[in-house]
Amino acid sequence: MAAEPIRAVEGTNDFTGDSARRFDRVLEAAAAHFPRYGYERVHLPLLEPTELFARAVGAATDIVEKEMYTFSPGKESLTLRPEGTAGAIRAYLQRNLAQAGGLVKLWYDGPMFRRERPQKGRHRQFHQIGVEAVGAADPLLDAETIVMGLRFFESLGIAGTRLRLNSIGCPDSACRPAYREALREAVRPDLPLYCPTCRNRYERNVLRVLDCKSPECKRLAANLPKSHERLCAACAGHFETVREALAASGAVFDVDYTLVRGLDYYTRTVFEYAHSALGAQDALGGGGRYDGLVEELGGKPTPAVGLAVGLERILLALAAGDACRCRPPLVAYGVSMGESARRGMMGLVMRLRAAGLSADMDYEGRSLKSQMRAANRREAVFALILGEDELSRGEVVVKDLRPGGTQRSVALADYITHLATRLTAPPENPDGAAGENRPAASE
Ligand code: HAM
Repeated sequence: MAAEPIRAVEGTNDFTGDSARRFDRVLEAAAAHFPRYGYERVHLPLLEPTELFARAVGAATDIVEKEMYTFSPGKESLTLRPEGTAGAIRAYLQRNLAQAGGLVKLWYDGPMFRRERPQKGRHRQFHQIGVEAVGAADPLLDAETIVMGLRFFESLGIAGTRLRLNSIGCPDSACRPAYREALREAVRPDLPLYCPTCRNRYERNVLRVLDCKSPECKRLAANLPKSHERLCAACAGHFETVREALAASGAVFDVDYTLVRGLDYYTRTVFEYAHSALGAQDALGGGGRYDGLVEELGGKPTPAVGLAVGLERILLALAAGDACRCRPPLVAYGVSMGESARRGMMGLVMRLRAAGLSADMDYEGRSLKSQMRAANRREAVFALILGEDELSRGEVVVKDLRPGGTQRSVALADYITHLATRLTAPPENPDGAAGENRPAASE
């Protein structure tokens, strides 16, 4: 009796076929994009002390209160990282990255874990690409970070990203604390009308009342005071420069007072990129400034700003756009007849790969016809055909599989140069004089 199959953990994904290729394409694009803005790659642990997230993300956030995968194998409490900023700042401090002097720009990617209710675009293991610029308070850096995110989506061919922007001020008593109080006062008379989550948040985290999805809470929130209208002078000036710099870069944005973000470390600028293809979970990415976090984690007061994008959501946006042909075409597929030709073909294919050309061959002992079909299915540019006859003559037949392509015998000593040259040239004219155009003996 067949064993019961084991299924993946709820909320996790397997990436196969096109989705795996798209996944890699996004990572390759990130590796090309962020270093252009001066970012250096870091690889960070998935496991961190639980305390790190309680302090950085905030003990009263949904993430820390109910979404973390936390366990205690020994005395210490460990957590699978729910996000990357806390670990990046922990590493910045622990590895003395500030010693390099000035602004430190780091980028990373990898899986994150949140025990949320899975739905379209929301998973329990998901992947982020994140950037953190640590060491400068300049509002132009906020604008650079935001525009860099927009350009990243553009580089992937994702159109229709909407940028939402807000400022949630700073801990100065005249700024966020005063706004929080004003918000509480405005909510208080209608408190019984708010949903149970918001009633609960009223005391602990009143700002989150603004981004509740319940229609009644949304209606009530429309009349609440807006944070960007209640900023202290320094935060107001900062926000104005960010908006001006964004406008000067041609970035289109909406100032959205309901954007407060679900992590406690933010100060001043916060932003999110939304995409209509995503449904309820419409944030492709988000971020903001977090000027207090380095100090909160034991460092000197150090301003910082960053963002993270969700890879699964990028894949959804890519899939919703023009279907991409992600699979890189194979340069050559080896077709052979007979055991010694098969072994000979393995050598030819290996040498092509060593020369940087993609190649593959049959390992299933299929007929010549099925091997040719496989070459077409793999969208190979050329079929290399080798029978015992070709082998004895020291030749291989190269069949150009592009429309109008021809086939010809090429000396084994020359086949790599021949393929490399033909690859960049249009297919030879079947009626032209190029080559002897002899069909493969064994075909
Ligand atoms: P975040 O908004 O929590 O920010 O996450 C960033 C992005 O990760 C989201 O916009 C979304 O695309 C993706 N994401 C989040 N949760 C899930 C999920 N359950 N399933 C699939 N995708 C998800 C942060 O994590 C901050 N660390 C960003 C940051 C960096 N701020 C400053 N620096």
